[in-house]
Amino acid sequence: MARILITSALPYINGVKHLGNLAGSMLPADVYARFQRSRGNSVLYICATDEHGTPAELAAAQAGQEVSAYCAEQHQIQHDIGRAFGLSWDWFGRSSSPQNRDLTQHFAHVLEQNGLIEERLDQMIYSRTDGRFLPDRYVEGTCPHCAYQKARGDQCDNCGNLLDPLDLINPYSAISGSRELEVRDTRHLYLLQSRMQDRIRAWVDAKAPAWGPLTRSIAYKHLDEGLIDRGITRDLAWGVPVAYQGVARPGLEGKVFYVWFDAPIEYIAATAEWADATGGNWRSWWREDEGALDVRYIEFMGKDNVAFHTVSFPATLLGSGEPWKSVDTLKAFNWLNWYGGKFSTSGKRGVFMDAALEILPPDYWRWYLTANAPEGSDSAFTWEQFAATINSDLANVLGNFVNRILKFTESKFEGVVPAGGEAGPVEQALYARVDETLAALTASLEAMEFRKAAQDVRQLWVIGNEYLQEAAPWTAIKTDADRAAVGVRTALNLVALYARVSAPFIPFAAETIAEAVGETETAWPSQPAAVELARVPAGLKVQAPEVLFRKIDDDQISEWTARFGGAESEAV
Ligand code: MF3
Ligand code: ZN
Repeated sequence: MARILITSALPYINGVKHLGNLAGSMLPADVYARFQRSRGNSVLYICATDEHGTPAELAAAQAGQEVSAYCAEQHQIQHDIGRAFGLSWDWFGRSSSPQNRDLTQHFAHVLEQNGLIEERLDQMIYSRTDGRFLPDRYVEGTCPHCAYQKARGDQCDNCGNLLDPLDLINPYSAISGSRELEVRDTRHLYLLQSRMQDRIRAWVDAKAPAWGPLTRSIAYKHLDEGLIDRGITRDLAWGVPVAYQGVARPGLEGKVFYVWFDAPIEYIAATAEWADATGGNWRSWWREDEGALDVRYIEFMGKDNVAFHTVSFPATLLGSGEPWKSVDTLKAFNWLNWYGGKFSTSGKRGVFMDAALEILPPDYWRWYLTANAPEGSDSAFTWEQFAATINSDLANVLGNFVNRILKFTESKFEGVVPAGGEAGPVEQALYARVDETLAALTASLEAMEFRKAAQDVRQLWVIGNEYLQEAAPWTAIKTDADRAAVGVRTALNLVALYARVSAPFIPFAAETIAEAVGETETAWPSQPAAVELARVPAGLKVQAPEVLFRKIDDDQISEWTARFGGAESEAV
């Protein structure tokens, strides 16, 4: 039994996430976690909301709420929607937790003791009207690169360039709109990543063989460009106070750590939250001196997060000089696009997780987003492709098979698995195909190749349809009762197998399918097909489920295109 720690990038707190966020981190992490649990491994899947930083403060202000109340409410909303999607987190924490405050302060303290943090005098924009500094997104203005007039202090949404607030032309306060801004001195802490260049490269060299090409190329691009020292504090009220052991760090009273410093630490802190709530031992997952040496740690994230997890967070962990567990496999995803353009949280373009569940059950989305995961390259959502995938894979291939054989059993065998007959050449051929495809599926999931895994599981469904077509119990029943019995029994066993192998992808439907044939085993199949397909015994009562998957029709496509937009967003 292996111990497998899984984390997915922490969704930001400022509102419900869109399907692109789901597809590129939380969902594949969940598919993988479910698979590994069914293999009998000890899995801990940790996620949390990322709650600090200016976007949280701004979103709260827009909602007219205190930031702490806003975060508590949004956390609960994201938690509930994730659960409704079947995300099987062992813990869904909050980066604003006391555990994260303590750990963040701990890391900063040891980094400073190790000479890796330096206090520097910075110039920052200060608003007299607002009586405060305006870090990052608190200041907007004209982009020096593309002249876009609403560029944010940290980044221009129009051309994508990263910015420093001081770069903006004609800056104004995002809070009050005031242009009465001035540049003032302010003291901040810098993490001296430049001093850790060699250590981080050695760490990347050691880990990179287990990473995919996307992760590797991003990591080496940053190393080759040379690591730069990074400001890890901000003049904000909301966040982890810059204090060590409860005492404000002299000279930085009233300041907080930068959100990108404390967010990855929340992976650890959320595990501590889990431990505090359940009596688990978080240190055995994270401290190599306390049992974590045998943990395999896998992170899932979109490509925009990779630099933070191959360079910045490792700098925190390695720089501490303490034996923290660092990531083994980092699975990165490209973008899921919305038609030709981007999903956009601020632009409200695309389908968001809450709206998705208003129109269809979670498995439809889980299946589509896994089968079309933006793995090798970006992929694009369109309603037409979505409907085609659901109608073909789920309704025609899987749903029909399950429905057809169960209805047939009900009508010809009074819903009882028939006895009699023995496996013949047709079944032997089936076993060989199932063995081969199941091995491929297991390998794809182990390798975290999700598109391939979805193809493999679909192939298993196709094999069942082909078998049923060939065994044709509806014909055999007229001349050879034993042949018909073998065909029906084998097909019902395929249904039971599908429940088990489909569960990581479509857990809700898998449960319905399992119930239909009385399958209670949830472990991943490990025996030869001849054994796995002889589990559902003759004499057992089975029952066709309600319609498993409804086909998506043209009227629905039109309705959803009108509601969510579609092709026209290509023009944006
Ligand atoms: N909230 C960040 C994002 O949406 C991800 C943070 S992942 C963490 O891109 F590990 F740093 F927390
Ligand atoms: Zn720009």
